[in-house]
Amino acid sequence: MGSLRDPHTDLHSEQGALRGEHPGRAQNPVVKVHDVAWVEFEKPDLERAELFARAFGFTVSLRTADELQLRGTDPGSPCVVIRRGPRSRFVGSAFRATDDRDVLRLAEATGRKAAKLPESLGGISVDLTDPSGFGVRVVSGTHELPPLPGQEPLEFNFGHDVTRVNAGQRAPRDPAKAQRIGHVVLQSTKFREALDWYLEHLGMIVSDFQYFPEQRERGPVMAFLRCDRGSTPADHHTVAMNLGPTNKYVHSAYQVADLDTLAAGGQYLLQHGYQRSWGIGRHIDGSQIFDYWRDPDGFLVEHFTDGDLFDCTLEPGWGVFAVSTLSQWGPPPSKDFLGVKPGRESLSELRAMAGALREDNEFDRHSLRGLLKAAAS
Ligand SMILES: [Fe+2]
Repeated sequence: MGSLRDPHTDLHSEQGALRGEHPGRAQNPVVKVHDVAWVEFEKPDLERAELFARAFGFTVSLRTADELQLRGTDPGSPCVVIRRGPRSRFVGSAFRATDDRDVLRLAEATGRKAAKLPESLGGISVDLTDPSGFGVRVVSGTHELPPLPGQEPLEFNFGHDVTRVNAGQRAPRDPAKAQRIGHVVLQSTKFREALDWYLEHLGMIVSDFQYFPEQRERGPVMAFLRCDRGSTPADHHTVAMNLGPTNKYVHSAYQVADLDTLAAGGQYLLQHGYQRSWGIGRHIDGSQIFDYWRDPDGFLVEHFTDGDLFDCTLEPGWGVFAVSTLSQWGPPPSKDFLGVKPGRESLSELRAMAGALREDNEFDRHSLRGLLKAAAS
């Protein structure tokens, strides 16, 4: 670890690890996945899902009576797979392995069998379940969809630095075309166990840890994990996870070309009656410009642009888990985004809190106190 860069020498984080804290990477992971490939849902109403998907900026790459596959403009596999099911639910995430050998190595290490994926996706997969109960597929050899025309970033006059003369600035009044899936965020009642599982099985490494206010000694309760691609930079987080009273999907995020595309795309969604959850703002961990939306099934999805990319040399930063650390600028986080808006979701979360305190997991009375403090700071 001698070649790792001290996070204090740049602006990535104000704090690094203290002696004895979680190192943020496994010494000898089974494989190192390359990226997230797609997320999978079940939904009863594919027509409604497709309408939202088009307004959000996806392109439909497959539509059958029982399945909807959505893609971005980047080449590769679809980034969302939705199958018709009796109720809306998040099924799991798929990650791209470097090659078939890594899929087979992971299958061998976990006592599972690799299997062919359906012809609509191609390739092979090993299907696992993480400690929180979410599906995790690690895939390779999937069909490569060709690139689609995208939205070009605008040409800016930055202050006195003039590059655009004799031409107007016109942002698109269209859906913000999704380029690719960037990350998925999950909440877990077994955060530490799940964290170590992703580090050991998928070779992911931690970009930033967060701890509850005044509870650093109790260890991290949120982690932003990136893929270890060696000297090739990877998104600041491909998976983010936090400790909470339930195991649940929090959101997934899709990259768009630039701020104007994101803002104009948000306008388009509003005009079509969809509900913004929180945005537009800029995050701290990962630095993305973000805009969060509720899809018609109540799932949170994010448009983002201008995120951080790190190579494998950066060590984890450490910071406080609090509402105030969610963004550098933007409107205050909404009740909807924080999951405290009066309604079905917050009621079931409250009920779950009482249950989680009684059950054998990592969510205890210290976590409850920490969560309340985080909400107020
Ligand atoms: Fe996000």
